[in-house]
Amino acid sequence: MKQNRIYLSPPWTDEKEREAVSAAFDSGYIAPCGPMVDAFELELAKVAGRRYAVAVASGTAAIDLVLEHLGVDSSWTVVAPTLTFMATVGPAWHRGARLAFVDSDATGNVDVALLDDALGELGGGERTLFAGVDLYGRCCDYGEVSRICRRRKVKFLCDSAEAVGASWRGRPAGSAGVAGVYSFNGNKIVTTSGGGAVVTDSAKLADHARKLSQQSREPRPWYEHREVGFNYRMSNILAALGLAQLAKLPAILEARSRNKRRYEKLFEGTGVGLLPPVDGENNWLTVALLPDEGSRDALMSAFAAADIETRPVWKPMHMQPVFAGCRAFGGQVAEDLFRRGICLPSGTGLGENDWRRIERTVRSAQIAGFHGKRRMQTK
Ligand SMILES: Cc1ncc(COP(=O)(O)O)c(C=O)c1O
Repeated sequence: MKQNRIYLSPPWTDEKEREAVSAAFDSGYIAPCGPMVDAFELELAKVAGRRYAVAVASGTAAIDLVLEHLGVDSSWTVVAPTLTFMATVGPAWHRGARLAFVDSDATGNVDVALLDDALGELGGGERTLFAGVDLYGRCCDYGEVSRICRRRKVKFLCDSAEAVGASWRGRPAGSAGVAGVYSFNGNKIVTTSGGGAVVTDSAKLADHARKLSQQSREPRPWYEHREVGFNYRMSNILAALGLAQLAKLPAILEARSRNKRRYEKLFEGTGVGLLPPVDGENNWLTVALLPDEGSRDALMSAFAAADIETRPVWKPMHMQPVFAGCRAFGGQVAEDLFRRGICLPSGTGLGENDWRRIERTVRSAQIAGFHGKRRMQTK
């Protein structure tokens, strides 16, 4: 019998989402506006501990809206951790901003001492933005990053695309800087199939982002524009899906943390570690660190043969051909994490049969360099 593929982080839905979408459909608001969008924004603002939330078509669109509000163009420098997904810096690149990348510390998040040096060397100032990232649902050091950015007079955007439900010392992910950004892509901890949000305490930023996301129409009966906007607004149908998902956030967080504990147990004594823990993480993806690149490839091949999806850790931005000309501050830590790290299946709905398959695969993987009490063996 053909077994089902185990995915990294598939959507986790049931009748609740189906009913919510159906109710939104029946309400007649099959449009990028409506009561579900308003309600979703209210809930998102609560999750983020922010005054305002603006629901949009994707996390990437949310980042672009914040950049547009700030006026980021080719006269700006945008600094970002090198270990991230392309979308953290893609919108800045399209605007012609100068990009610079900063290495990680052992947790994978930005190395704050190096960030301070980098901003010092680049000059900092009003036309510099730090696009901070909460890697794999683990908040970066909001306190230190905020202090550094304030001292260097640099704006701080908090890319919490992967971190919905996480926290830093009790402060929700996305609550630092001028604005936070969430993603509700299909692989995220809470999904609207595709979607995102800007969360902020600034009424000016929120109002502007909302207006920009709807082609920047002036409040007139005719189409009047004083600036050029975008078509980035979230649809009412997807917001209904998002509301049903948000109601499950506590259960989702619990399941993801259970996943991580199970991996900890599975790898105990094998020489495979997990990315060092960060307080308040949402465990979006559990990341294993192998002894070297060869054993990483061997474990990934074993998973692939068992039809289980895994991924290497993000390839650092300073290693991407398209950013070859950009400045990088350090980079060796992120390179090492890329070579040795594997994102493991971390879905909310992983069942007992899935786990047995994952455990069997790990235990039978033929990996050089493993040591400890439960040596990996070939069966
Ligand atoms: C760190 C980070 N930033 C931004 C994004 C962009 O989000 P989206 O895919 O919703 O555009 C993602 C997600 O995919 C991400 O992981």
